Amino acid sequence: MLVVEGLVKSFYGFKAVNNVSFTVERSEILGLIGPNGSGKSTIFNMLSGTFPPTAGSMRFDGAELAGLAPHRIINRGIGRTFQIPRPFHRLTIFENVALAGYFGQGRHSRAKAEEAAERALAMVGLSTDRHAGVDGLGAAGLKKLELAKALATGPKLLLADESLGGLDESEMDQAADMLRKIRDELGITIIWVEHIMGVLMRVVDRVMVLDHGEKISEGLPGEVAGDPRVIEVYLGTDADATQAAAALARRRTER
Ligand SMILES: Nc1ncnc2c1ncn2[C@@H]1O[C@H](COP(=O)(O)OP(=O)(O)O)[C@@H](O)[C@H]1O
Ligand SMILES: [Mg+2]
Repeated sequence: MLVVEGLVKSFYGFKAVNNVSFTVERSEILGLIGPNGSGKSTIFNMLSGTFPPTAGSMRFDGAELAGLAPHRIINRGIGRTFQIPRPFHRLTIFENVALAGYFGQGRHSRAKAEEAAERALAMVGLSTDRHAGVDGLGAAGLKKLELAKALATGPKLLLADESLGGLDESEMDQAADMLRKIRDELGITIIWVEHIMGVLMRVVDRVMVLDHGEKISEGLPGEVAGDPRVIEVYLGTDADATQAAAALARRRTER
């Protein structure tokens, strides 16, 4: 579905993403992990058209994405969430999601956008509160709203950025299960970015690890968690390693 080759992003000579290549298969969940500042969000910003790559290509369903404006990329079927949610505070939850649906689906029909919003809100479990404002949503609620907005744009590929940030342990588990449900029930392909390995390892099909803008490892969760280069990068974060090991153990018992 997605073929990324030799992707580079330089900011004033600093290579935030340095020659990264990867592919995404239809209907898989690819985990993209790496420490803070390793280039994960920058990859999402290029895939979603926030800024063009300095070099490299990104082919989605066979067509090049580099150089396309964000709304063209959304219309081609790539939706994203943002690491820092910035909803419209004077609109209701439902209006925020319907607006994303309206623009994301090419501004054709208000009715279609509202239908998409209803479906998206039901998927993330925000239906009952949909006519309330967004200010009552906590961290977990705002993450759900971000997901609903992305889903309402009708994506084939969903880019989920740091869905677990600011959540407690049970909320993290719920968020992970929600991403899996989105893939299983809607058939949406997902790239899921996190800086911690944790519960991500339980849900993803494959993982890719970035460090200082470069890909340092890629493979099945079990392989990547045992890769000496990955352990080195995550050394000193014992809590994370323990969490990842626990998640892998749960993955084994679940399947
Ligand atoms: N628009 C920008 N201008 C300058 N530097 C940036 C910009 N965006 C990101 N960076 C830098 O690029 C590096 C990678 O950032 P980012 O992709 O946000 O990391 P991650 O999402 O993995 O934490 C960081 O050093 C960050 O400061
Ligand atoms: Mg980031």
